[in-house]
Amino acid sequence: MTTPREGDPRGRERPWDRDAPHAHVDLAALRHNLALLRGRTATGVRLLAAVKADAYGHGLLPVARALAAAGADAFGVATAEEALALRDAGVPGEVLMFGPVRSGIAELVAADVALTVALPADLEAIAATVPGSPARVHVKVDTGMGRLGLAPAEARSLIAAVARSPFADLEGVWTHLASADEPDATEPGSATDRQVAAFADLLARLERDGLRPRWAHAANSAGTLVRPDAHHDLVRPGIALYGQPASGWLARRVPELRPVMRVDAPITFVKRIAAGTPISYGGTWRAPADTVIATVRLGYADGYPRSLSSRAEAGHRGRRVPVVGRVCMDQLMLDLGPDGDAEVGERVDLIGGGAPAAFDLAAAAGSFAYELLTRLGPRIVRRYSDA
Ligand SMILES: Cc1ncc(COP(=O)(O)O)c(C=O)c1O
Repeated sequence: MTTPREGDPRGRERPWDRDAPHAHVDLAALRHNLALLRGRTATGVRLLAAVKADAYGHGLLPVARALAAAGADAFGVATAEEALALRDAGVPGEVLMFGPVRSGIAELVAADVALTVALPADLEAIAATVPGSPARVHVKVDTGMGRLGLAPAEARSLIAAVARSPFADLEGVWTHLASADEPDATEPGSATDRQVAAFADLLARLERDGLRPRWAHAANSAGTLVRPDAHHDLVRPGIALYGQPASGWLARRVPELRPVMRVDAPITFVKRIAAGTPISYGGTWRAPADTVIATVRLGYADGYPRSLSSRAEAGHRGRRVPVVGRVCMDQLMLDLGPDGDAEVGERVDLIGGGAPAAFDLAAAAGSFAYELLTRLGPRIVRRYSDA
């Protein structure tokens, strides 16, 4: 887990951090996005913020604290380490493990972390580990994602078994929408529509069985934004909290999202080169004319995709300049043009701000914003502002 500045035994800001790439995390933008999502849900619907993967690269604890203070009710995580980091830091709110676990169960239950059960054997593992102290359990049902959980018909008996078990409290029943960011997500008969209907049907059957979990939940960011009929008791947004649309279609539908992160990095070297001079490994880019090249302290080991070699732009002094040559492990080069002027130490935007948005850069890299953000490494110093 990477929360570089949080609880760093070496202290808050170290002198060399000034020369590092920085991720500027705007907590006011985070709150804006939270409020926007809240505005799409009915009163009483709880909000569980997906903060797995270091809060999508934004820093688990500062983000979770800001969200809790702004009214998020719960947090969703993927690993025991993430769950316990929230608990150890005393962040208020429920914590749910998104996937079933077979190890660390005792520690998680002792820390009052809610567990996901997807198979009868997951329940058996809980019963074998923590006899006597019931675990808070959410049963995951597969309505069409094809990742975790039994199909509704079989899940019904698993849910009943959890409800009967002295080792578990049936707290939730949940599913995950696979395609709620697709343009057909609101259309009758679409994959999302079928998932939403299958989940509603399961809940109705459970009701008839006398089983009413406290929290039924299905909606990720896209589901929260476009499928109110999938909200049930709780929504689970992630990417939208960070101000990134899950898809181009959603970007057009919800233009009010505010990006929470901007990444900049310092120029470490500036040189004038002649036409034909090769730049970086393999000499894959040669200057078409005399020009000025700036070297920047950010590379693929920091999470800036190598596939953006000669395929992206950065923001320098209010204009876009191309990334040229192969992106290196710790560095990349920019073509500032024949009249280019830059100082060593000056910072350029690489993601967001004057550079393309994470969504567009990720698309140019053949990926998507989730991957770009979650791969931003610990060498990028996270800086938080709350204006
Ligand atoms: C179970 C679960 N719920 C909610 C989310 C949040 O999804 P999104 O970031 O698309 O809102 C995720 C993330 O993939 C997830 O795995």
